[in-house]
Amino acid sequence: MKNSAVSISGLRHSWPGPGEILAIDEFEIMRGESVFLAGPSGSGKSTLLGLIAGVTPVQTGKIEVLDQAMDPAKPQARDRLRADQVGMVFQLFNLVPYLTAAENVRLPLAFSAQRRADVSASGLAPKDEATRLLGALGLASNIHDQRAAELSVGQQQRVAAARALIGAPGLIVADEPTSALDEDSRDTFLDLLSNEARRNEAALLFVSHEQSLASRFERFVDLQSINRAGVPA
Ligand SMILES: Nc1ncnc2c1ncn2[C@@H]1O[C@H](COP(=O)(O)OP(=O)(O)OP(=O)(O)O)[C@@H](O)[C@H]1O
Ligand SMILES: [Mg+2]
Repeated sequence: MKNSAVSISGLRHSWPGPGEILAIDEFEIMRGESVFLAGPSGSGKSTLLGLIAGVTPVQTGKIEVLDQAMDPAKPQARDRLRADQVGMVFQLFNLVPYLTAAENVRLPLAFSAQRRADVSASGLAPKDEATRLLGALGLASNIHDQRAAELSVGQQQRVAAARALIGAPGLIVADEPTSALDEDSRDTFLDLLSNEARRNEAALLFVSHEQSLASRFERFVDLQSINRAGVPA
């Protein structure tokens, strides 16, 4: 077993319209490592996260997550790998509006026997693990049974983070999850997210253009320093 949570080699990605957006020769994130990925708007940060999470199929090159290929030719294997190993938090949190906060958090367990097994190994019922995570992320218990549609942005963000963490996937990817928050709640949220990721020994890949947040992470990566797209050879 290698020690990497994410391993990228020879990656190139083009979108119709803008053309080549990413050309990354080698990039690796170690298991348990926390990485802050910065880069200007439009530089390809979300594109890279989509490829790592297996939402966007790889066109050229190779991406491995926890030693398994995000194989463009095998969409079902990609879905399985994502469901088992990747917790995702997006800028728009993509909660299911008519489910409660706690139900949203438990959702990934419906798609992954591996994540269900991890929860049961902890000795907690799924409901209690959802309660624990929501509490650890700072959501008051009287909110847990409220529908997602009725929550504030900051509350939704905590639910989305708990949903990413449940069942201890080996990789958490977060795409600008703090942009709608004021500075105080942003700092608190980041600390709680990092603490829970560390508790699970999960790697954390956090994308933002707010470079002031970078000091909270073990490694800072400027996308432009690893991306050769648009740079003359
Ligand atoms: N699905 C898509 N189809 C076509 N072009 C796309 C698609 N997604 C992104 N792009 C283009 O790829 C480029 C990079 O976009 P991307 O969203 O990855 O940037 P970003 O670094 O995340 O920017 P931001 O900081 O604003 O979120 C942009 O030119 C964008 O228009
Ligand atoms: Mg983006």
